Amino acid sequence: MHSLHWAWGYLRKYRTRIILGLLLALVVSAMNMLNPYLAGKIVDKVMYGHQKNLLWKLLLLMIGFTFIRTAVRYGYQMMFEKLSQNVIFTMREHLYGRLHQLDFSFYDQTKTGDIMARMTGDLEAVRHFTAWTIYMIFENAMILIFAVCFMFYIHPPLALAMLVVTPVIGFFAYKLTYAVRPTFTEIRNQFARLNSVVQENISGNRVVKAFAKEDYEIEKFSVENEAFKVKNLESAKIWEKYLPVLDSLAGVLTVVMILVGGIMVIRGSLTFGELVTFNSLIWALSNPMRMAGWLLNDVQRFIASAEKVEDLFITKPKIKNQGQIIDIKRFKGIVEFDHVNFSYGDGPVLKDIRFKIKPGQTLAIIGPTGAGKSTLVNLLSRFYDADSGDVKVDGVNVKEWDLHKLREGMAMVMQDIFLFSDTIEGNIAYGNPYASLETVQSAAKMAEAHDFIAGLPEGYETIVGERGVGLSGGQRQRIALARAILKDPAILILDDTTLAVDMETEVKIQTTLKSIQQNKSCFIIAHRISSVKEADLILVMNNGKIIERGKHEELLKKKGYYFNVYKNQYGNFDHKLHGQEVI
Ligand SMILES: Nc1ncnc2c1ncn2[C@@H]1O[C@H](COP(=O)(O)OP(=O)(O)OP(=O)(O)O)[C@@H](O)[C@H]1O
Ligand SMILES: [Mg+2]
Repeated sequence: MHSLHWAWGYLRKYRTRIILGLLLALVVSAMNMLNPYLAGKIVDKVMYGHQKNLLWKLLLLMIGFTFIRTAVRYGYQMMFEKLSQNVIFTMREHLYGRLHQLDFSFYDQTKTGDIMARMTGDLEAVRHFTAWTIYMIFENAMILIFAVCFMFYIHPPLALAMLVVTPVIGFFAYKLTYAVRPTFTEIRNQFARLNSVVQENISGNRVVKAFAKEDYEIEKFSVENEAFKVKNLESAKIWEKYLPVLDSLAGVLTVVMILVGGIMVIRGSLTFGELVTFNSLIWALSNPMRMAGWLLNDVQRFIASAEKVEDLFITKPKIKNQGQIIDIKRFKGIVEFDHVNFSYGDGPVLKDIRFKIKPGQTLAIIGPTGAGKSTLVNLLSRFYDADSGDVKVDGVNVKEWDLHKLREGMAMVMQDIFLFSDTIEGNIAYGNPYASLETVQSAAKMAEAHDFIAGLPEGYETIVGERGVGLSGGQRQRIALARAILKDPAILILDDTTLAVDMETEVKIQTTLKSIQQNKSCFIIAHRISSVKEADLILVMNNGKIIERGKHEELLKKKGYYFNVYKNQYGNFDHKLHGQEVI
């Protein structure tokens, strides 16, 4: 019921068309009574009444009515089809918009395959319901009601005899749908699982090949595929169990009619023509009952799917844009963490983080993997919110800024670089699509990417594959860096950005960054001492805590973690130099 209410939100707009369509369905349902009536008349008037001249008229009427009925039915079928496409178009747009509202924690927990299943199979089930099921339910119900009324009009006792059998069919149709009910949700969920396996394998096909695990993955897929087949067969089995019962009961209707009706004809209380009319109306009794199973099936499928689609709308993003402050041209770039604590759910990941940096300054974060470095910068752009303490930009808690404005003021080169399947120019200009080619090139030069891009056969027009396939790791990092530089943000965040870049290029990049840094603050996360030693403040993190802080020289003097890392990275090098000096 809830799903219907939700779907009605989309259908309401088309209510006039729906009412018109259902009215036409009403007319068609009524017209279904005409041919049985005329067939009876042919028997009574033409065959028994010998009014031969009536035959052509009645036959022409029958053909005419059939033609009109078919045409009208086609008309409203098309109307519902069109309407369903419109409805699904809007739903898809809303759903897609919704996917962009949902935050990191949603994507952390939801499989891409599941989301794809909702965008495709589930939406199709909802469309099918709007395009077909709605009017079919109405049409069948009306045909049944008209047929019963018409039978009572012609001959109440025989109509009563027929009606005794009809509820039995109804009962079995109900039993059928009740049995199918749970399988539909299961089929739908299994489809989502199957989708997830396929999606993961396509995305991770390089890993699969590198580890020669094709057979293993095919087997994994087969298991899910088999489960999908079995679930579908289970549903079909239930269906097959009841279908013969429904068909036999429809046969019983004919037997009852011939038996009771035949006796009445012999006794003279029923004309033969009326018996023929009754016979033609049996279809109108049994078919809706038979269809009821299908239709209720469709309703179940709709409910299972609509619930999943609706789920995306019910899921509330944890990061809400409650911030009101929007009236700012450009951030200054002052960033402050004030006793910040954070956890993803189980166990603290950031503990009592404190620091402050100003425009023109660079903050570097170093520490072992899993220390919480990326998590720290994720709080800055509100990918997640701190559990306690304040994250402030320009002296104001990030929650109070308009979310869009906040993120607009920052540029981040993420650890996991993502490039769109677009031209290199398009990728670099992602933050500012109106940037001229010169601006794009100048950003690329600063990121030390221009030379290799210019060397490509199609230069900036080169289309990079999905996720940047076709480029080396270092090239991808430099394109991502150019994308961030082009945005000219007040806060620039580089998460392991020069990891895959050679030392010489890194030094050049650092020099460039320094030259553009006067009006921005810069976060550099790195593992190499060479990447961080020039920073105004270096935070050494371990296990979610800042264990050391200061400038390069100060940290070396502390002879702690930083000193050890320095020794490991430069130890041999210094030694060699020292040796050379002696010689
Ligand atoms: N989305 C997430 N959901 C749950 N836990 C997470 C999530 N992302 C990271 N973690 C956990 O939080 C901790 C800190 O992770 P984080 O990515 O911040 O480390 P890091 O210092 O950036 O490491 P690296 O140097 O490897 O990039 C790790 O223990 C990690 O398992
Ligand atoms: Mg990280």
